[in-house]
Amino acid sequence: MISAEEPVLAHNYHPLPVVVARAEGAWVEDVDGHRYLDLLAGYSALNFGHRHPALIEAAHRQLDRLTLTSRAFHNDRLAEFARRLVELTGYDMMLPMNTGAEAVESGIKLARKWAYDVKGVPADQATIVVAADNFHGRTTTIVSFSTDETARAGFGPFTPGFRIVPYNDLAALEAAIDETTAAVLIEPIQGEAGVLIPDDGYLTGVRELTRRAGCLFIADEIQSGLGRTGHTLAVGHEGVVPDAVLLGKALGGGIVPVSAVVGRREVLEVLRPGEHGSTFGGNPLAAAVGTAVVELLETGEFQSRATELGVVLREGLAGLVGRGVVGFRARGLWAGVDVDPALGTGREISERLMREGVLVKDTHGSTIRIAPPLCVTEEELRSALAALGRVLS
Ligand SMILES: Cc1ncc(COP(=O)(O)O)c(C=O)c1O
Repeated sequence: MISAEEPVLAHNYHPLPVVVARAEGAWVEDVDGHRYLDLLAGYSALNFGHRHPALIEAAHRQLDRLTLTSRAFHNDRLAEFARRLVELTGYDMMLPMNTGAEAVESGIKLARKWAYDVKGVPADQATIVVAADNFHGRTTTIVSFSTDETARAGFGPFTPGFRIVPYNDLAALEAAIDETTAAVLIEPIQGEAGVLIPDDGYLTGVRELTRRAGCLFIADEIQSGLGRTGHTLAVGHEGVVPDAVLLGKALGGGIVPVSAVVGRREVLEVLRPGEHGSTFGGNPLAAAVGTAVVELLETGEFQSRATELGVVLREGLAGLVGRGVVGFRARGLWAGVDVDPALGTGREISERLMREGVLVKDTHGSTIRIAPPLCVTEEELRSALAALGRVLS
């Protein structure tokens, strides 16, 4: 099956050599019946595990009734999804889209429109300040402000209007903001960069700087949000409230692509009919699954599991420091683990872990990312950490 893909599938990914055929909870099974613990969880799209029964039931019920209307008509599921999502996240309004990149694009358009209509920035002069080593998606505008040459090279010309500053550096951020600044757009934790967690106070500082400068603070919580770090939103660790938050991945429960911008009324209401949209955004199937996702998060159970099991993850990784692990960063059930390069690349470590029945994803050199479904048990997590210990010894 792997070689059958080769001639007919664009080579924009380099997957581990495992062909998954079915899955449940924290486990996937390949075509030969081998089982693996999934410690990637679809880059956090599977926060609730594979095929969570409540999500599957919501999808089935909706499939039997209505799947798509386009936004040319109303559907009877979207209002409830919107209301419950804004209540969960503490905002006024939401804009539904599908993929994470679309939520980011929507955030950029909202920020620019807000800058012209509300802040009074002269036409076409708006700037958005972003962080180095960001990952916000793959569209041409988004890669325009990436600092990853692999993501950019060959895809120019690029969209202007972005200023890049080092992450976790408030002085640099302050220096980059001026009267043209529409927004500061950052990830509260940089996932793809290796789960880089900023210093305590950084997010608070970003909030204060943006408030003082009269520009928006937009947090990309597409990977960090919806329970992963032990809070509904990762900005919750500092009690910070951005003007808008970008959500995706887990919002679709691992079933359908669902993303959204949630934010203050002043920001979201700058859009008028015809100025932005998406055929599939806010479709009834997505709204039904998204509502069921919000319902799971309303209980707080998954956030608590991430906090509690996060302690087990951190302790387990701390025990491996000096025994193959040279450093790690972790928050909730999310970790970036730097492996001793002498033991292999992140890819090689991931392949060895695969042979031990554990699936992870490498990033940049010898770093691997661990992001189990939040339904993983303590026993399963400990067994995965033991497997990591074995492949590093
Ligand atoms: C922080 C962040 N933003 C945006 C995206 C893009 O999401 P998508 O792949 O659904 O377009 C990702 C994907 O990994 C992400 O981690």
